[in-house]
Amino acid sequence: MRKQELIRAAMKARLSAYAPYSNYYVGAALLSEDGSVICGCNVENASYGASNCAERTAIFKAVSEGHRRLSMIAIAGGPATDDPENLSGYAYPCGICRQVMREFGDPAEFRVLVARSENDYETYRLEELLAHSFGPSNLSVEAG
Ligand code: THU
Repeated sequence: MRKQELIRAAMKARLSAYAPYSNYYVGAALLSEDGSVICGCNVENASYGASNCAERTAIFKAVSEGHRRLSMIAIAGGPATDDPENLSGYAYPCGICRQVMREFGDPAEFRVLVARSENDYETYRLEELLAHSFGPSNLSVEAG
């Protein structure tokens, strides 16, 4: 799976965003270790705190479908008014989503791509975005 393909999947998922309150549309595409791609978008709620980020939508979908070993996520986000294929900025994952990634991704291996377009993106290892993290191993739980 090329990074560009995963980014394209995130940009497509972004178009399903339900974000009438923020008008900030986010899409995410996850790659599991077995090569499956699982997508998600942000889903807001009139009771704002009940909203869910695109990354967590994708991760919870993946886990609920049996994918616990995750290797990479592509994220594409921006105002609804942006050109969907050429976003105005990078959408870095929020702190809660970084922690959820940590549960199912090896911090030294799991890659986070933030993309403005298929050819304009940054790549990080999860440990760069979530240093000295707390995870399953702290509670003697085997990841995955
Ligand atoms: N959002 C995401 O989907 N992912 C993030 O990592 C940051 C924020 C969403 C949540 C909300 O629907 C909107 O962006 C504005 O915060």
